[in-house]
Amino acid sequence: MAVGKAEVLAGLEGVKSPEGTPLPKSGKLSEIVVSDGKVYFSINVEAAAVTAWEPVRKAAEAAVRAVPGVVSAMVALTAERSAGAAPARGPQPPPAAARGRGHGHGPAEPGGQPAVPGVGAIIAVASGKGGVGKSTTAVNLALGLRDLGLKVGMLDADIYGPSVPKLLAIRGRPETMGGNKLRPMDGYGMKVMSIGFLVEEETPMIWRGPMVMSAITQMLREVEWGTLDVMVVDMPPGTGDAQLTMAQQVPLKGAVIVSTPQDLALIDARRGVGMFKRVNVPVLGIVENMSYFVCPKCGERSDIFAHGGARHEAERLGVPFLGEVPLHMTIREKSDAGLPVVATDPDGPHAKVYREIAARVRDALSGPSAGRPAPKIVIEA
Ligand SMILES: Nc1ncnc2c1ncn2[C@@H]1O[C@H](COP(=O)(O)OP(=O)(O)OP(=O)(O)O)[C@@H](O)[C@H]1O
Ligand SMILES: [Mg+2]
Repeated sequence: MAVGKAEVLAGLEGVKSPEGTPLPKSGKLSEIVVSDGKVYFSINVEAAAVTAWEPVRKAAEAAVRAVPGVVSAMVALTAERSAGAAPARGPQPPPAAARGRGHGHGPAEPGGQPAVPGVGAIIAVASGKGGVGKSTTAVNLALGLRDLGLKVGMLDADIYGPSVPKLLAIRGRPETMGGNKLRPMDGYGMKVMSIGFLVEEETPMIWRGPMVMSAITQMLREVEWGTLDVMVVDMPPGTGDAQLTMAQQVPLKGAVIVSTPQDLALIDARRGVGMFKRVNVPVLGIVENMSYFVCPKCGERSDIFAHGGARHEAERLGVPFLGEVPLHMTIREKSDAGLPVVATDPDGPHAKVYREIAARVRDALSGPSAGRPAPKIVIEA
């Protein structure tokens, strides 16, 4: 029997809010998304009341799982920040977790995005503007972290235009494992998940708010990531509602902003920094991509986009500057052929640049702000 919204709501009748109201009548439920027996929804509560609601969330999940036909249930607590209210903060996790080596186990702080069990630090690679080389940077940064001896996973959160399968030359579909989890694919020794593995390349993807949430939570929580030191998340371009929701949906330890040096891209990079600050995710730094051009024939360097803009912007915004990646034919050719430079030309100059950036990211993760709890505030898109 195919399970639907009505069955889920009926199953929730017995779950009561802290005030004793049956959940379906509490007015706090988001849209209920049911897909192939998998159920997703969120309970939207006051930021101050999240502790009281956590047992309700758990009970709701258990009740939905007990509904015949339900394969899995994922219920998130979301809290809307009232204007001017200070962000809710949970207890500080132990410093070990900050090193990117400590592995989160079990649920995170009440009301926060629960940690992904076994996954140390999750970092987003983002930009305000499209096409600045975010995915290329994300892939090579992840490989650089792998070369530093870390266990690395990659989550392609660009559900509108997934490019990680191509950049890592991964074909095929992930298999289902026991417990209905998906086995991540392997890309150069990293565990990788992308919506691109699940849909045809040509399929135009139209996502509505709750679907964005469920796609991301599914890739994050219904994949057997195992034990990872770091997960690198390739974000979709932009700083709109969808990106904001994603930034809030994933329990991020930090964000890396990619920008090209010209003014227009920098304005967007500033928006990117602003977006993460707004959701209390520390910005680990800015990478200047396509920073300068070295002629492959004569070796002469030209600053096509006025090199150095991102470094100045980082200084202005008070965030670290992580490094400059040149605009180079090899990077583009290798990237587009699924042969990222860090993996396929590890002794070359570009791999060195990415590894240096990776080392700075790793160090930033172990810095003073790294132990901060995951963001608490989620506003539904
Ligand atoms: N440093 C570089 N040198 C040369 N080419 C590059 C460099 N960085 C990225 N590119 C190329 O630029 C194009 C866009 O890069 P990429 O897909 O990584 O950008 P993006 O910001 O992820 O784009 P989108 O916004 O569409 O997700 C690709 O063809 C890529 O190979
Ligand atoms: Mg991209």
